[in-house]
Amino acid sequence: MFRQGSFLKRAACAGGLAGCLTTGALADDPIASNNGLYPASDKWSGRYLLANFDYPEEAPIEGRWRGAAQAALTPETAPHYLEALKRHLEPDLRVLIDQVEQWDPKKAGWYDMVWSGEGTPLADGSTDPTSGREALMNTYTGQILPPETFTTVPPTGSVQNHAVIYYNDVAATTLRDVWGDLYVPRPERAQFRDGAIVVKAEAVPLSAEDWPVLRGAASWHVYRPSIAAQTRGEKPLRPEVLEAHPIQMAIKVKDSIAAPETGWVYLAYVYDADHPGETPWDRFVPLGAMWGNDPNLTDDPDGLPPGATLRESWINSEAPAFTHDTLGWGGRLAGPMDVATRHNVITPSGRRYVAEDRLRASSCLSCHGAAEFPFTANLYPSPNRSFPRDGEAFLLYDPGSADWARWFQNRRGDDPMSPNIGGLALDYDMVMMFALSNYHAAMGAEAFVRQGLDGH
Ligand code: HEC
Repeated sequence: MFRQGSFLKRAACAGGLAGCLTTGALADDPIASNNGLYPASDKWSGRYLLANFDYPEEAPIEGRWRGAAQAALTPETAPHYLEALKRHLEPDLRVLIDQVEQWDPKKAGWYDMVWSGEGTPLADGSTDPTSGREALMNTYTGQILPPETFTTVPPTGSVQNHAVIYYNDVAATTLRDVWGDLYVPRPERAQFRDGAIVVKAEAVPLSAEDWPVLRGAASWHVYRPSIAAQTRGEKPLRPEVLEAHPIQMAIKVKDSIAAPETGWVYLAYVYDADHPGETPWDRFVPLGAMWGNDPNLTDDPDGLPPGATLRESWINSEAPAFTHDTLGWGGRLAGPMDVATRHNVITPSGRRYVAEDRLRASSCLSCHGAAEFPFTANLYPSPNRSFPRDGEAFLLYDPGSADWARWFQNRRGDDPMSPNIGGLALDYDMVMMFALSNYHAAMGAEAFVRQGLDGH
């Protein structure tokens, strides 16, 4: 999940962490396409992608996703839904994966989030090269995942992802509702309409030699510091033109028929190097879907009592083996880039999860359910709001406790996780939460700014 240093770090800075505030130079361009860092001409001769903020007032009915379900999804009907959705998205997203040099969000009718592109100013006046959207592909940067995240097909060293995030036309009508006036947002209107689709496609800057699961994958170029430079703690950290390979497409669909309790179907496709498909797009296979958190199976510390099966997640047993390492609590859906498993966890009862003993602590809907304004509840089941990077000590509730279970309920998108503080629910949208934080940071309203967070 979380973007490292991107819109999040910026919010972190504004929250007073890392001394960023002392620079005084808070970014305040709501419609920046990128963070303003560009490669030298001998390093890059390709194009620069521009963000699309031209949110429509209405989306055409024609061509809209009507869902593939006549009733609430079940593990039996979910595979069909995933197949149909991939076909629906193919005309646009095949270009993004297979012919990225032709990809143009404006032409394709996909939209970017405002208040999220600009970079974070550092104390020396330069821009944090891991922040904002980079200039070549407009990707955000994810956190560095420790090598032990993947045990089935281990990578050489750490993994990081760079992700584009796009809203379709129906989803963008809600962006217009909220951001019609860029300087007077209306978070109370952050409820998406049926047919809204948001896509996050994530690419990893490792070679197939470093991580065999990437064999034959498509190629993007991004302008970011290498994983090695970041793990070495190089200062100043410099961006480079990196080749990155799309590995995951995490997608959410507002569909109140398929998902009557939460309103959302969260699903993921992953790149399968061994699949016989002709092109990289063809080799993306379903990882699974979830439309609820199976809240009645939350008393068990493992998230799934012996003999029980999840009824609100479906996982493709034929998805590549490395994706099993990173599924969510009790096998609920989470993707390989989602940081649903945590290493180095401490619980109130004194239990510790260290080294190989990782804790499956989240799921797509569990984590996204914490999207509210102002940011109050941790994205993970934790009593504290702030959370460390994966690998650092992190206090979580005991799995199976009533407190823990609060993160695994099925709520409607307008039902906030923290009603006791008057929080507004943001209909499961994390990027919206960060954009609102960035807006408030720029306006100097720090109480509403979310603290530092490293993720996805
Ligand atoms: C542990 C938390 C966590 C988990 C698990 C998680 N996400 Fe996210 N997701 C985030 C955060 C944080 C963002 C904001 C951008 C970023 O950091 O990547 C995000 C962004 C997104 C977006 C862009 C729109 C939005 O809501 O912000 C989509 C779509 C998305 N995730 C889908 C998924 C899907 C599908 C899954 C499961 C397969 C998933 N996510 C699992 C935290 C999570």
